[in-house]
This record gives sequence, structure tokens and C-alpha cells, in this order.
Amino acid sequence: MKLISGNSNLTLSKAIAKKLAMDLSSAEIRRFADSEVFVEIQENVRGEDVFVVQSTSSPANDHLMELLIIIDALSRASATRITAVMPYFGYARQDRKAGPRTPISAKLVANLITTAGADRVLTLDLHAGQIQGFFDIPTDNLYAVKNIKEHILANFRGDKDAICVVSPDVGGVVRARALANRLGNVPLAIVDKRRPRAGVSEVMNIIGDIERQHCILFDDIVDSGGTLCNAAEELMGRGAKSVSAYVTHGVLSGDAVAKIDATEALSRLVVTDSIEATEAVKNSPKVEQLPIDTLLAEAIRRIANEESVSSLFD
Ligand code: R5P
Repeated sequence: MKLISGNSNLTLSKAIAKKLAMDLSSAEIRRFADSEVFVEIQENVRGEDVFVVQSTSSPANDHLMELLIIIDALSRASATRITAVMPYFGYARQDRKAGPRTPISAKLVANLITTAGADRVLTLDLHAGQIQGFFDIPTDNLYAVKNIKEHILANFRGDKDAICVVSPDVGGVVRARALANRLGNVPLAIVDKRRPRAGVSEVMNIIGDIERQHCILFDDIVDSGGTLCNAAEELMGRGAKSVSAYVTHGVLSGDAVAKIDATEALSRLVVTDSIEATEAVKNSPKVEQLPIDTLLAEAIRRIANEESVSSLFD
């Protein structure tokens, strides 16, 4: 078995390698003068079970291209099985035709990964579980909910009875309910969010009783931060005791971290390290990273040993 990393999140790749008590395989990834990606795998992979760790985080297209070219290089070097380990699967929000003459880019990306030569995919908290069906190769979708539950229980130890999980939009209800159930069937509330246009969100209503509750906003992606900041302000305005947010993928584009730091209504944002922390994240007094290396390493170990991955979710 071999582990190779793209450039998107070397910190996480090294942490996974450490958990598996192995080194990252040596591969040179560089750019031609015109920015084309060039990859050279610098050790023999013939007959190997190879795992390529790469999130398609910003710059999304460069990181996606790196992943595809690494897979192509491995496939031409006769690796027996290639698993694309994508802690963050970008383009996932484009999972349906959002309007006339628009693409389904998540499906296109799935096709590209398969065509490049991947035999299977391992990912984390896909934006929509159905995206697994976009791949005609085995796809394991892990969940960060267990790690998140433990963080919440450790931080609200004395106040567990006043916790309410809040889905920041109707599409996230199943995810939020899973967390509420794991926390011991705590109450659930839903934000009725509208998007007048891409990148802009508005809170229309809150469904559920959140008064005097510690509200936990639970989402898969925080990008501009608009969804979380708007929801936090509305929840505090309606009498919540506090608002914290737990989100699997900290995309945090542009001035998202500054916006979150400046929003008094939001006490804390916890994201996993599926995406490498920027300087803004590292310096933020409010944003915290929750390590996900143990979960990914264990899933890789189980795949390599042909053991059950789903039992990791129990
Ligand atoms: C949307 O369906 C996702 O689950 C997130 O709620 C969304 O991507 C967050 O975006 P932003 O932080 O830009 O409001």
C-alpha cells in the first residue's frame, strides 16, 4: 500500500500517514511556465494499492487537475488499485440543473476522476449523499458527525439540556437530525433560508423553538460565511442563549473569516481540517479546526485490508 499527496492539504496528508505509521510516497508535482501541471511518481508503484489524498479546495481547478494527473501517472505506472481520497469534494454544490442551460458539474468531475483511472473514491460529508451515484466506481462517504458530537459534548458539558441543533437551510435537515439524535434526541430547528442570487443568502423564518437554547448550527460547507452569520443574528434576535456553528468543510473564501470574527451573534465556528487552514483561520479567535486524520486513516486502513468501512459510522 502507498500513500501519495497532492498539494492541497499536505498537513492532513502527513497526519494521515503518521496515523498509518508510513511515509508519504515521493512524487514531484510542478508547473510548466504556462502553469500546466506535471507529475512524476518517484518510486515504483507497480502492483501497489495506492491512495491519493487531495481535496479540491481553492484553487479548485488547479487542485482537481493535480489529482487527475497524479491518478493518470499512477495508472500508467501499473498501480493495481487507485483510490482518490478527497476529504473535500469540490463542485459538489453543482449537483443538479439549477436552471435552464446550466451544467451538472459534480457529475462531470466524477466522470473525470473515473476516466483518469481511479478505481474508488473515499470522501467526507458529501454535500448530497446522492453524488455517490455520479460515480460508477465504489465511493465511500464518511461522516464527521461523531467527532463533532464529541466536541459539542465536551464544550457544553454542564448545559447539555439546553442544546438545540439548527439546520441552516431546509436541505440540511437530515444532517442536522442525525446530529440531534446522536446528542440524545435534542430539539431541532430549521432556518428557512432563501438565496436571491449565488453567494447571497437571506433568513426568511426560523422553524422550531430556540428561545433560551444554545443553538448549534450544523452544515457541510461554510463558504462566504453569509449563511452562518445571518442565521446567528436571527437566532440571537429571537432569544437564543448562544449560537455556535459546526461545519465539516471550511471553504471560507474571501473575507469570510473576518466576517465571522466580526459577527457578535456567532460565538464560535468549528470546522474540520478537510481543507488546509489559511493564515486567517489560524489567527482567528473564533475559528477552530477539528482534526479528521484518525477517521480518514482508519477508513484507508480498512479499505486496504478489505474490512467494513460502514461499521465506522456506528
Ligand atoms: C448550501 O447548501 C451549503 O450547505 C452551505 O449552506 C453553503 O454552501 C454555505 O455558503 P455560504 O457560507 O457562502 O453562505
